[in-house]
Amino acid sequence: MSDAEPIFDVAHLSHAELLTPRFDQSVRFFKDLMGLYETGRDDTSVYLRGYEESHHHSLRLTRADEPGLGHIGLRTTSRAALDRRVAEIEAMGAGIGWVDDATGYGPAYEYRSPDGHRMRIFWEIERPEVAKDQRSRLLNRPMKRPGIGVPVRRLDHLNIMCSDVAPVRDFLIRSTGARLREAVVADAGPVIGAWLSHNNINHDLALTMDMTGASGRLHHVAFYYGVPQHLNDMADLLRENEIAIEAGPGRHGITQGSFLYCFEPGGNRIELFGDEGYLIFEPDWQPVIWPERDLALGLSYYGAELPLTGAAIGTPPRPIPDPAEIMARIQGKA
Ligand SMILES: [Fe+2]
Repeated sequence: MSDAEPIFDVAHLSHAELLTPRFDQSVRFFKDLMGLYETGRDDTSVYLRGYEESHHHSLRLTRADEPGLGHIGLRTTSRAALDRRVAEIEAMGAGIGWVDDATGYGPAYEYRSPDGHRMRIFWEIERPEVAKDQRSRLLNRPMKRPGIGVPVRRLDHLNIMCSDVAPVRDFLIRSTGARLREAVVADAGPVIGAWLSHNNINHDLALTMDMTGASGRLHHVAFYYGVPQHLNDMADLLRENEIAIEAGPGRHGITQGSFLYCFEPGGNRIELFGDEGYLIFEPDWQPVIWPERDLALGLSYYGAELPLTGAAIGTPPRPIPDPAEIMARIQGKA
């Protein structure tokens, strides 16, 4: 058991910025099928949130030539916590600097993971005024449940791809106090996947070994329903609208979450999360390490097969290596 003092400076994953080369189609997907509300718009981006989110946005969609991750936004537990984390990030040599395009939050500090993912950390957020016709009758619900699509409730987690998982895992633990919950470790040593969280959910940031060997890519962004039946409703709606379903509905072994994977029109993989799996309350949680032989069970407990080639598919897109090359990477030979 580690005697290290836990860090509770980061409250939660606050937003993700997604890049899309098919901006209007992506906006329509998130608004009309996933039921996100638009809370702002400028020349380059649209800002969106779920009906149970009170902060300005959990998703920023930005015009770009290629799909992919813009940045990840983490909210701290206080101003002092922000200062502590920025000091640590600067000491680690990962800092970029304070940003000047933080719509809906900030002051915000930008930095980079060892694999190149852009991250931002901040304390202050805006809570935009809600139009009268969008107000819920429930005093504890920020906006009315929209009568469109199968509306998601909130952002849940991000899964980012890494040329090497272990340094990014260690970076998240040191820079923002993320706690390792589960991992898959290959027999030859490389970490194939890691699931970490800053709070009681079992992961808010997950890391996947990029089977193409590329750096800084996105595997998926996940939104939360809390009701697995909604995955079937959404699968129906996706098929009706000719949106590609990759896999599911099914249930993961790792984290025990129920999933449906699809690709939004811009090309980014989106996960719809039925239920959250288990919650974590123990301060001395011992990470669950799955061996290579249990990988298939860990990825999919039931409902859909999740082949390893899925760990080569991310954004921006890259050519998918053949199975032998993927095996060589897992065995630490690539
Ligand atoms: Fe996920």
